[in-house]
Amino acid sequence: MVQYKEYGFEGRTAIVTGAGSGIGEATAIELAKGGARVALLGRRAEKLEGVRQACLKYTDQVLALSTDVSSPESVKKSVGTVLDTFGKVEILINNAGIESRLKPGETFFGTLFDKLDEETYLSFFKVHDYGHYLMNLAVIPSMREHHFGRIVNVTSVTGIHGNYSTPAYTASKAGAICQTKAFAMKYGKDNIAVNAVAPGMVDTPMKIDATPREYEIVKNKTPLDRVASALDIARVILFFAQENLFVTGQCLTCDGGSDLA
Ligand SMILES: NC(=O)c1ccc[n+]([C@@H]2O[C@H](COP(=O)([O-])OP(=O)(O)OC[C@H]3O[C@@H](n4cnc5c(N)ncnc54)[C@H](OP(=O)(O)O)[C@@H]3O)[C@@H](O)[C@H]2O)c1
Repeated sequence: MVQYKEYGFEGRTAIVTGAGSGIGEATAIELAKGGARVALLGRRAEKLEGVRQACLKYTDQVLALSTDVSSPESVKKSVGTVLDTFGKVEILINNAGIESRLKPGETFFGTLFDKLDEETYLSFFKVHDYGHYLMNLAVIPSMREHHFGRIVNVTSVTGIHGNYSTPAYTASKAGAICQTKAFAMKYGKDNIAVNAVAPGMVDTPMKIDATPREYEIVKNKTPLDRVASALDIARVILFFAQENLFVTGQCLTCDGGSDLA
């Protein structure tokens, strides 16, 4: 049974970056349930293959393409393959993201804060900002040609509040929010809506270093009384990917209300 019927995903072509795990995986599977043709992009082929198998339960039109979103050549090659295979791109979910891995005893806001070398620092901007830029430029000609596009950028509440993360992560996520607005202004006349979602803490592989105590702290300060799942965030992403949408250039916080505390 096709789900999300009112969102108009059926027969549309969607690209999800960072589709091999977490929020990207959940989003890709939900788009497949909605009848979309889905292209899964990420660096690790084995992860993408697992998600491709999950999507195949709902649609036989799924591509898994090993891609580094921070590389112009890699993006050009993969988007070219999507266009050759499906003919167009109508939905882009810029979800790929990275976080520093902590060594025992390290904390983001403590010991790691002032220890980022140049390459590490810039890697956050290459994935979270330049990656969105490259992906957008690669798909927008097709969206303009068909006068329809939905781009959803996965940012973070740290890009709004600047808290509890490394400076490069939080600054790059803030940049992604402003870049969302720039693309929304430029391409609105082409019926391309560009929005962002800003999750709080989400239970995904990215949070592998978080302790049970840290999960408990977040749960306790969250009015909805739990930490988000990947599916919680995927559902908000899908809202912004829907056909009938008169919203662009916005960033929606999805943190169960924890920023109210
Ligand atoms: N989990 C949270 O608490 C949280 C909170 C706020 C925002 N977010 C954001 O949500 C998004 C999804 O993260 P997640 O929580 O689902 O974590 P995740 O499971 O680690 O997913 C991130 C995905 O991005 C892919 N990726 C990383 N660098 C890439 C690159 N250069 N090119 C292509 N793909 C790349 C990774 O796969 P490969 O390594 O195979 O490429 C991975 O599948 C990220 O943008 C993250 O910053 C997460």
